[in-house]
Amino acid sequence: MNWRRGRAWWLLATAWLPAQEPAFAHLTAPPRGLPAMALPAAPAPTQAMFDLGKALFHDPILSLDKTVSCHTCHRQDHAFASPERLPRGVGGQQARRHAPSLLNRGYGKTQRWDGSSPTLEAFVLEPIADPREMALPVEHALQRLRAEERHATAFSKAFPDGVNQDNLATALATFVRGIVAGDAPYDEFLAGRHDALTPAQRAGLWVFESKGACWKCHTPPLFTDEDFHATGIGVVDGTAEPGRAAHTGKPADHGRFKTPGLRGLRHSAPYMHDGSLATLADVVAFYVRGGNPHPQLDRKLAPLTLTEADRLNLVAFLESL
Ligand code: HEC
Ligand code: HEC
Repeated sequence: MNWRRGRAWWLLATAWLPAQEPAFAHLTAPPRGLPAMALPAAPAPTQAMFDLGKALFHDPILSLDKTVSCHTCHRQDHAFASPERLPRGVGGQQARRHAPSLLNRGYGKTQRWDGSSPTLEAFVLEPIADPREMALPVEHALQRLRAEERHATAFSKAFPDGVNQDNLATALATFVRGIVAGDAPYDEFLAGRHDALTPAQRAGLWVFESKGACWKCHTPPLFTDEDFHATGIGVVDGTAEPGRAAHTGKPADHGRFKTPGLRGLRHSAPYMHDGSLATLADVVAFYVRGGNPHPQLDRKLAPLTLTEADRLNLVAFLESL
């Protein structure tokens, strides 16, 4: 294939795909631009665990009335986020927060917007039992899985001791680790292909790194410092949500939420932990005004002086990720 045709194909493919197809191979051979992923030592992840996790992720059997799967709220065509502000679980119950993108969560140091869950294994059973999400006690989920031959068989293939709570968590976590996004035009650009980014996207990258100061919290290559900041999102009628402080009990953590990674953004609207910003232009306008008022607003935030062109270019860069 000549270079031009190769490039046309590549443009077509990246225009459609929010991320690489989830794969077990990504755990040990991540796409260009991503660092090596730290993996659990025991049990070491296997292809059989990944395959089982993938089947379970898409199966509504893990919800009380068998209508909701993980994929209902974390849609692949939506960068594994939800298109709804606050997604609906079993019986139309609404989750309290926006369902974030699951891209590159295998790199996460904590899970949830407030970081209250330490690992993927610890977290992935929570949506199953959560009455606003899948509303099925984990013990009932295990009974169902033992009774379904295809799942029971897949469990025995992946684990010597078959269906149990730890193995359910391991399988789901192994699949989530395989959901990655790298090899964006940005990564090609860094690898030396200057024209991988359009002139507008290059100008946007410059705003991101200079007067926008976005990189201070959205640190490449994952575009997150995995830390917690008060940006003023979640202040309703003058009252701020506790955010991370509800978990740590520290007053300094009041209103702080985790910095999300920015890859796959073009597909994952709406934005922020409450889904309150509908478009990337809204996000940029939010940062231009220096965030929303908050008594403990992060010191890295301040009103920005960006021209109309700066704002458009910044959005173009964010969309390219
Ligand atoms: C009803 C919608 C819903 C369903 C179903 C659901 N989730 Fe979520 N998910 C959410 C919401 C909302 C959050 C944010 C929770 C928070 O921060 O408190 C979340 C957060 C996460 C996170 C943490 C991401 C991060 O950035 O920290 C992971 C991982 C995750 N979900 C995986 C799963 C898996 C695996 C399943 C299936 C067992 C699942 N989810 C089912 C709505 C859902
Ligand atoms: C002080 C640290 C900090 C700085 C600086 C910062 N951000 Fe953020 N960003 C955050 C945090 C924290 C959130 C999540 C806030 C929430 O939902 O409560 C966030 C959320 C976002 C989101 C939403 C992502 C999603 O999946 O919902 C986008 C997009 C974003 N920031 C872009 C930017 C851009 C562009 C800049 C520069 C103009 C910037 N950020 C500067 C910390 C920061």
